[in-house]
Amino acid sequence: MMRVMVLGAGGMLGHRLAAVLAPRFEVVATLRGAAGAVSSAVCGTTVVGGVDVADEGGLARLLDRFRPEAVLNAVGVVKQRLGPGDGEEAVTINALLPHRLARLCGTRGIRLVQFGTDCVFSGRAADVRGPDGYREDDPAEPADIYGRSKLLGEPEAPHVLVLRTSIIGREAGRRQGLVEWFLSQGEAPVRGFTRAVFSGVTTTVLAELCGDLLERHRGMSGTWHVAAAPIAKHDLLLLLRAAFERATPVLPEPWPECDRRLDGGHFRAATGWMAPEWPKMVADLAAEEVPR
Ligand SMILES: NC(=O)c1ccc[n+]([C@@H]2O[C@H](COP(=O)([O-])OP(=O)(O)OC[C@H]3O[C@@H](n4cnc5c(N)ncnc54)[C@H](OP(=O)(O)O)[C@@H]3O)[C@@H](O)[C@H]2O)c1
Repeated sequence: MMRVMVLGAGGMLGHRLAAVLAPRFEVVATLRGAAGAVSSAVCGTTVVGGVDVADEGGLARLLDRFRPEAVLNAVGVVKQRLGPGDGEEAVTINALLPHRLARLCGTRGIRLVQFGTDCVFSGRAADVRGPDGYREDDPAEPADIYGRSKLLGEPEAPHVLVLRTSIIGREAGRRQGLVEWFLSQGEAPVRGFTRAVFSGVTTTVLAELCGDLLERHRGMSGTWHVAAAPIAKHDLLLLLRAAFERATPVLPEPWPECDRRLDGGHFRAATGWMAPEWPKMVADLAAEEVPR
């Protein structure tokens, strides 16, 4: 069985990667905190706690100890966690780390999967050139330090695969994403942005795709857009409301306007992969076991 290492298995994407890939691969899941911190989510994997990825020597020892065939880097500092004084951390973790990992993996014959973001694009309507959204070769114009640091963190090498996408999902520890925010609302109305459009996928769908890519597209490298059908945040909240049987009213709100849909056509042509429809992704999300 192929051994894969998931870095950052305590996060929104990382815990799902570990859980979804565990039946298909021998998974080594790393956590910055103590092993067992998200035990229900990563059961069936070998959990290594106390891994600070900023420690290069520690990373090298980890790779030499477990000798994975592939590393999935789900470590990152996401937009919601970036305050005014966090530029150094953003650059270290989002920009520098992927290149360091690429070097450490490359010299050991290990494949690296890095997760890029639609936030490398501005989201301004005038900047979208194609009819189906941003393509891989469109000029990136990140609007903030998150997007800029993530753009720098897209290594180019024959053993590195960068999947640019956007994700929603349940969260194991810190709850900072759209889904957990919505589920924490009561019966007071929330605003649903009708012109804020994205084309992300659920963390489970992305994790399953990663498994397929590791098994069936072993030589694939480069930067690719992984996208579902575009959806407005307002419509997504309505789907979440129905699937999770919530009473929270969602009021349509035309501003802010932001269109970060990615054109996944290039990736689809190369792999044959198509994202499920949004109602299916959200229904599956509602049926997921919530990590403790
Ligand atoms: N969320 C999105 O919409 C989205 C879209 C596209 C791409 N991505 C990318 O996908 C990746 C995962 O995102 P996510 O949404 O799952 O974020 P998340 O829930 O915040 O998870 C990030 C993980 O990185 C870990 N981490 C940060 N600094 C670390 C360090 N120095 N040492 C060890 N671990 C460290 C965090 O550990 P702690 O829990 O200990 O802090 C956390 O577990 C990121 O690269 C992100 O840019 C996310």
